[in-house]
Amino acid sequence: MTQPHVRVAGLSRHFGTGESLVQVLHDVTFSVAAGARCVIVGASGSGKSTLLNAIGGLDAPDAGTIHVAGQQVTGMSPRQLTRYRRAHVGFVFQFYNLVPDLTVTENIQVTAQLVRRPLDIDELLHHLGLTEHRQKFPAQLSGGQQQRCAIARALVKGSDLLLADEPTGALDRHTSLQMLEVLDDVHRRYGATLVMVTHNEAITAMADQVIELRDGRVVSDRLNTNPVPVRELDW
Ligand SMILES: Nc1ncnc2c1ncn2[C@@H]1O[C@H](COP(=O)(O)OP(=O)(O)OP(=O)(O)O)[C@@H](O)[C@H]1O
Ligand SMILES: [Mg+2]
Repeated sequence: MTQPHVRVAGLSRHFGTGESLVQVLHDVTFSVAAGARCVIVGASGSGKSTLLNAIGGLDAPDAGTIHVAGQQVTGMSPRQLTRYRRAHVGFVFQFYNLVPDLTVTENIQVTAQLVRRPLDIDELLHHLGLTEHRQKFPAQLSGGQQQRCAIARALVKGSDLLLADEPTGALDRHTSLQMLEVLDDVHRRYGATLVMVTHNEAITAMADQVIELRDGRVVSDRLNTNPVPVRELDW
């Protein structure tokens, strides 16, 4: 068997102390194969973002290990974490975190500058349907266009791991489906492993793997042998 791209083992995380202590992740264990589309579902507060942030090296768990592409992320120094994030991880957040004073192209360039061999920005803009919007500022874009810009920015480094936290959360149904098409298309084109968090059960049908979190525990982890094309998703 080939090595999984992401391997999470025995992960635990709490916040607060004493009376206000909340155990957010309990002994979370799973693996994601290279190039797979993994969707993590669960109710609000079930620990999805905490888990995704840990995989992306933005948050340190209390116990357990995370390996990405054979590298152990848990236990890395801040410098190593920065290098890990630059080399491997593209983040797409619910609120796109675009820089308001920079154009679409400039927002992407900022991230491209972090790596030695970024992807071709013109090509990315083209694939994401942003060519005609390249000189616009985020405030001049629709929510879907802003999200596509955020995806371009996450991809431009040539990241092999795309982490998306509720990428459709702020979008209406039609724009959400467009967004999922784009994510699916770039996944196919660029071959990155996709780990996407959502509370929308319907989205799980497009995934190769579905992990369900409840109160910080993995309650189900299944492979989807027959994923549904995005345009056939139903909600
Ligand atoms: N920095 C923090 N300090 C204290 N508690 C936190 C912190 N971050 C998260 N939590 C708590 O941990 C729990 C899980 O939060 P998390 O953001 O991971 O949930 P989620 O599944 O992403 O929820 P949502 O679907 O609403 O985004 C929540 O109860 C939250 O209040
Ligand atoms: Mg969240």
